[in-house]
Amino acid sequence: MSNAPIKLSRKPQPAEPAARTPKGARTACIRTFGCQMNVHDSDRMRRMILDAGYAEVHSYEEADLVILNTCYVRENAVDRVRGHLGELNRLRREGRVKKVALAGCIGASDESSELQRRYNIDLVLGTHNTYELAEFVGLPTMEETYTPELPGTEGEHSEFVTIMTGCNYQCSYCIVPTVRGRMVCRPMESVLEEVERLVESGTGYVTLLGQTVDAWRHDGKRFCDLLQRVADKAPRVWFTTSHPSNMEDRTLRLIGEKETIVKRLHLPVQSGSDRMLKLMHRGYKSERYRRKIEVFREAVPDGTLSTDIIVGHPGETEEDHERTVELVEDCGFDSAYVFKFSPRKGTEAAELDGTVPEGVVQRRFLEVLRAVEQNAFARNQRKVGSLEEIYIRHGSTEDGKAIGETWSGHAVHVKTDAKPGEYVRARIGSAGPHVLYAGETAL
Ligand code: 5AD
Ligand code: SF4
Repeated sequence: MSNAPIKLSRKPQPAEPAARTPKGARTACIRTFGCQMNVHDSDRMRRMILDAGYAEVHSYEEADLVILNTCYVRENAVDRVRGHLGELNRLRREGRVKKVALAGCIGASDESSELQRRYNIDLVLGTHNTYELAEFVGLPTMEETYTPELPGTEGEHSEFVTIMTGCNYQCSYCIVPTVRGRMVCRPMESVLEEVERLVESGTGYVTLLGQTVDAWRHDGKRFCDLLQRVADKAPRVWFTTSHPSNMEDRTLRLIGEKETIVKRLHLPVQSGSDRMLKLMHRGYKSERYRRKIEVFREAVPDGTLSTDIIVGHPGETEEDHERTVELVEDCGFDSAYVFKFSPRKGTEAAELDGTVPEGVVQRRFLEVLRAVEQNAFARNQRKVGSLEEIYIRHGSTEDGKAIGETWSGHAVHVKTDAKPGEYVRARIGSAGPHVLYAGETAL
């Protein structure tokens, strides 16, 4: 039984990379922080700077224009950006970087004017006016105010498609509704047209994006209907992020039934304690969440499940924390993003009493993380020996290891020279808590 990965023929044709602009052209560097929404917005900004004749570079030292596309969801994200802005000012004094633009969620926040003054930022963009970058880089002004309609960098093997912006929830801790606004759903026809265009130009993997994608509604249609239509058109489809209150059982069943949908669900739970869920205004109890997971496990037995968890929200007691650890053990997540609560100015939770001491937060954080990892490791072990069709996400590095994804949504390191967007078949040789190893890279 050979472990060598076999290249499969059902690969989409990846488009040629964008042509480089000649030597001496203006240069721009885009740095992205935060979630997939920002990665996607950066794609759009990349299209604009390339259209305006800039060459893209990947270090600040080489850049005339630097665009920081930022995240505001936790304080450490803001601290990181301040660090980068300080570094950029130093480079500016040395005459290297000429212009700095601040985009994304910090740009849309109250903190942006203070940062603009302090760091001499040339352009501040929020999340709803990304198109203003066009004018700044010398392109004709764009009329669109509805950012999902703006083109991204087409022809890539894997593309994001925004189906909604903003969020109608008011979770106690979350700044997103303030900086991204209320939910706006994009019409189904517009989404389908974009998907068709992308697939025609060689995209083999479409990820539907939004803060609460399963809350999508338009013209009497719901998310499940949209997903079905997209999955009929694209060779590989995923979606993120979902909200437990909106997730329909028929969507969970569709994931299991439709062969083009990646069998991976990201369903943030935040806490296992009903008391905390109420305080957070999540709109569901842990029992309802567990039932959703049961439906998912039954409908998609081979699927992977991930979640977001916040530890140390104000008022969190030891008992609340124990409920979270219990829920992690019962649901058996394949991975989880565990966050320490970060107070955001303007949110309800920032004003609440019952701050949890830092040492306690740290211990709870590690306990939740350990529970997640133990489960994930045990689940990954069960994949060892199975033969998988693997979609290559990132091509091989110097040591020949590419990073791919199985149909059940596991991340795999695989030794192959296959390019992003191609498929290989390989046997899983070993597993860690976060990743599987296939083929010759097996430990
Ligand atoms: N503190 C910590 N984590 C947060 N998240 C959102 N806001 C905060 C905050 N103030 C987490 C939630 C959400 C994820 C994107 O970020 O878990 O699901
Ligand atoms: Fe934030 Fe809650 Fe909306 Fe998610 S659902 S973006 S956590 S307010």
